[in-house]
Amino acid sequence: MEALAAEINRHLRLYHVEDRPEISDAEYDRLFGELQALEEAHPDQVAPDSPTHRVGAPPAEGFASVAHRVPMLSLDNAMDEAAMRAFDERVKRILHTEEPVAYAAEPKLDGAGVELVYEDGHLSVGCTRGDGRVGEDVSANLRTVLDIPLDLTSDPPPPARVSVRGEVVLPVAAFERLNARRLERGEEPFANPRNAAAGALRLLHKIDRERLRALRFYAYALGEGIPEGAATQTRILATLASWGFTVSPDSARCDDVEGAIAYHARLLERRNALGIEIDGSVFKVDSLALQEDVGALPRTPRWAIAFKFPPQQETTVVERIEANVGRTGALTPVAVLRPVHVGGVTVSHATLHNQDEVTRKDVRVGDTVVVQRAGDVIPQVVMVVTDKRPRRTRRYRLPKRCPVCRTPSVRLEGEAVTRCPNVDCPAQLKNNVRHLAGRGALDVDGLGEKLIEQLVDRGLVKRLSDVFELDRDALLELDRMAEKSADNLVAALDRARATTLERFFIALGIRHVGSGVAELLAAHFGDLPPLMNATREELEEVPGIGPTIAESLAAFFAEEHNRSEVERLLAHGVRFEVTAPRVAREGPLVGCSLVLTGTLEGLSRDEAKARIEAAGGRVTASVSKKTSYVVAGAEPGSKLRKAEELEIEIVDQAGLEALLEG
Ligand code: IVH
Repeated sequence: MEALAAEINRHLRLYHVEDRPEISDAEYDRLFGELQALEEAHPDQVAPDSPTHRVGAPPAEGFASVAHRVPMLSLDNAMDEAAMRAFDERVKRILHTEEPVAYAAEPKLDGAGVELVYEDGHLSVGCTRGDGRVGEDVSANLRTVLDIPLDLTSDPPPPARVSVRGEVVLPVAAFERLNARRLERGEEPFANPRNAAAGALRLLHKIDRERLRALRFYAYALGEGIPEGAATQTRILATLASWGFTVSPDSARCDDVEGAIAYHARLLERRNALGIEIDGSVFKVDSLALQEDVGALPRTPRWAIAFKFPPQQETTVVERIEANVGRTGALTPVAVLRPVHVGGVTVSHATLHNQDEVTRKDVRVGDTVVVQRAGDVIPQVVMVVTDKRPRRTRRYRLPKRCPVCRTPSVRLEGEAVTRCPNVDCPAQLKNNVRHLAGRGALDVDGLGEKLIEQLVDRGLVKRLSDVFELDRDALLELDRMAEKSADNLVAALDRARATTLERFFIALGIRHVGSGVAELLAAHFGDLPPLMNATREELEEVPGIGPTIAESLAAFFAEEHNRSEVERLLAHGVRFEVTAPRVAREGPLVGCSLVLTGTLEGLSRDEAKARIEAAGGRVTASVSKKTSYVVAGAEPGSKLRKAEELEIEIVDQAGLEALLEG
């Protein structure tokens, strides 16, 4: 029991203090359950400081401690329906009733539990749960989370002192974006959204605004300040919403335990559609009076339970490691796994991202590994169970040559990715053709996977633009190509030739250029040549285009090969309509940037913006040294003061008209 407690304490610290767990949650729950069972069998041997008596971990050094006036409890787990029914039975036994008990049902959000204290409606302190009695003051970081209200404005006003509890989570999409960027920079990706969220809150010195801004807060409980008349958990959630909080999504009231079990099953179905990570459902006796009657243990209430989902993590064995060649030539190591069921799907492959990640995790062929699925994320190898490593294994290294075209692979100084530098490498080409033919790009009906394989393997398509050279005779040489299908494909290619500028940009397969970016570029430039000839600096000027995308575009069009591919696509009849660029390339305001403040008479902000852009100027949101003019209408805001400070020329509405006239 002592050894088990020590082991659990170590994992608690890794999880709560260092934000870098070494074992899966399921594995942790197993260890914890084992200790609980032993303590039940030997109550006289229970250590007073046993981890079963507390939640989380004490506050880390560096943060001020905040005592929770009402302890923040943890939740007991139910792993299956039987355990849920046993929980319900116990509640009824304590209440001496046979009547059904109603439960408030919520998703169990997988993030960091926090408490926000409001005094006279103003946020005074925000803290972590810590060990349930004392948490860490992370007010500064919590204040930057967008949906945490700094003031509670409601009618009637909230009680003088309230403590709102809830979960800070990082949405899955933001998590993936964040990790993609980290990988690109050669940094270690976060293990899961929860660690990324908890870690951001507990950064002491280097505040990570980007990460904090992506966080969401969902309220689900009140510590202090339960208003008169809030008799149920359901009412508490409604009250929290009326104070301006986003409450736990998908909450519901269940009439009895069977309703709760049905809720859980429905939630599991929707699990991957929620956009945030949840690891089960939580059921709370709905009536607050009954909650009190049922009571609490030191660590957990008896009136609530977490019904956990089956784990999204499992262990399996790495059978091989392959290097996949992507559309941009990136060599991605992929672990081929002994198939295993994880969260309802069979997983047989997991990405290992890049060489640094393989090295860091030291994944080897033959290793037993923990694999994880999160939301709709590609399965990942969380870690190696080194105890189970067979003898005579070797470290894995990405191949020195592209596995497809045998060109020596390269890894540039300071980059995380290893690439095949051959742009006509069949692997890249197949991916590029697939991309070009895709729905969002030129949408070539009938140009599918198998056909692309054959076209590239037989040498009919040696470069991207060759796709539009395919004719009936060439197609009929292929296996199982009937005359009808050949005709259909020729017709589909013909339809695909007439496209839009935006789709054409997408079709080129430039890194980081998806539909959103392509739309911005098409609207901004209106035609191909100005984009192809734009410098990196000019590209960065386009609203919504950052340095990474600008760099990628400039690098793409700097390659002679790519420019000639564009020419060849056009020569093969691919065409689009040229539109007027949003910002005119000629006019009195070319090269000028303007800031609008206050109201203009008879001219809406959008109209003013459109007219400035038609005259070649740009409208930006804030005043900087680069601003050419600040247009001040009636009741101007702080931008006017800023303009005065920076000595920027200020014009009124008549002045604007004069500028537009030239
Ligand atoms: S209620 C006594 N509701 O799970 C009530 N907690 O394992 C405890 N959690 O510390 C809190 N979603 O951080 C509650 N809808 C929800 C929750 C939730 C996630 C977290 C919370 C808590 C932990 C317990």
